[in-house]
Amino acid sequence: MAKKADRHQSSPRVICITSGKGGVGKTNITANLAYALAEAGQRVLVLDADLNLANIDVLLGLTPRYNLHHVFTGEKTLSEVMIPGPGGIKILPGASGIMELAALNEEQRLYFLTEMTALEDKIDVMLIDTGAGINDNVIYFNLAAQERIVVLTPEPTSLTDAYALIKVLSTRHNVKRFKIIINMALSKSEAMDVFRQLYKVCDQFLETLSLDFIGHIPYDKLLTVAVRGQRLINEKFPDAEASVMLRQAAAVLLSGGSEQLSDGNIKFFWNRVFER
Ligand SMILES: Nc1ncnc2c1ncn2[C@@H]1O[C@H](COP(=O)(O)OP(=O)(O)O)[C@@H](O)[C@H]1O
Ligand SMILES: [Mg+2]
Repeated sequence: MAKKADRHQSSPRVICITSGKGGVGKTNITANLAYALAEAGQRVLVLDADLNLANIDVLLGLTPRYNLHHVFTGEKTLSEVMIPGPGGIKILPGASGIMELAALNEEQRLYFLTEMTALEDKIDVMLIDTGAGINDNVIYFNLAAQERIVVLTPEPTSLTDAYALIKVLSTRHNVKRFKIIINMALSKSEAMDVFRQLYKVCDQFLETLSLDFIGHIPYDKLLTVAVRGQRLINEKFPDAEASVMLRQAAAVLLSGGSEQLSDGNIKFFWNRVFER
């Protein structure tokens, strides 16, 4: 029994960061959460799964030469494709490569899954930065991950789009637990208002839904300064308001432990992606 628990303990958590609407701060939150989790001693891998804009690399001023495509074709191994980011985080450029998943033959899938399984012992958390909106890819990654964070801002369109995404995942795909981060609020009370509004619209229509508030990240000009210099705010301005709150959100994530631990591993994640 104890042995089993130990094994599950070492299974990486797979957390998808998503939103209904674009431009709410997913990529910045993913990268800074990754950095903060690494600071807290976690070994973190970020999968860039935004098919339209591979933007984590731009955010960090990195120029990946290879992406998942080269792993699928067998040209490169995973470790050759992963690039080191700040604070020891690793970045796996997905780009358009992810779209090829469905087209892989059995042998290619097996090779890829074997490569991925080798990561299990080397990683504690995999964060997935997805694109916005309710399209197939975003839905796939949300379903395949064991945990999902929905990011929204105080803009009314962000609320309605987040609700639409949650509704689709909940009613069509039976996903019932969502972690929530409110970004770009001007104050804690504004952030809590947004969370309450989301809770209210969801509660009204969807039973047995669970929304866990992970934190709020204030609007912070220093984040913009950091972005312009292609640095992470948590690295460049660790004492900035947003950095402090991002670290707090990382701590909340860690204290909450992972859900569905028995399933919470990377191979399981990719298997589910393949199944779609
Ligand atoms: N907390 C924040 N304070 C100030 N600007 C922010 C904050 N979060 C994000 N931004 C800015 O908002 C824009 C969109 O962020 P990004 O992370 O690319 O969003 P997404 O990945 O959801 O499209 C960027 O220009 C970023 O600098
Ligand atoms: Mg993005």
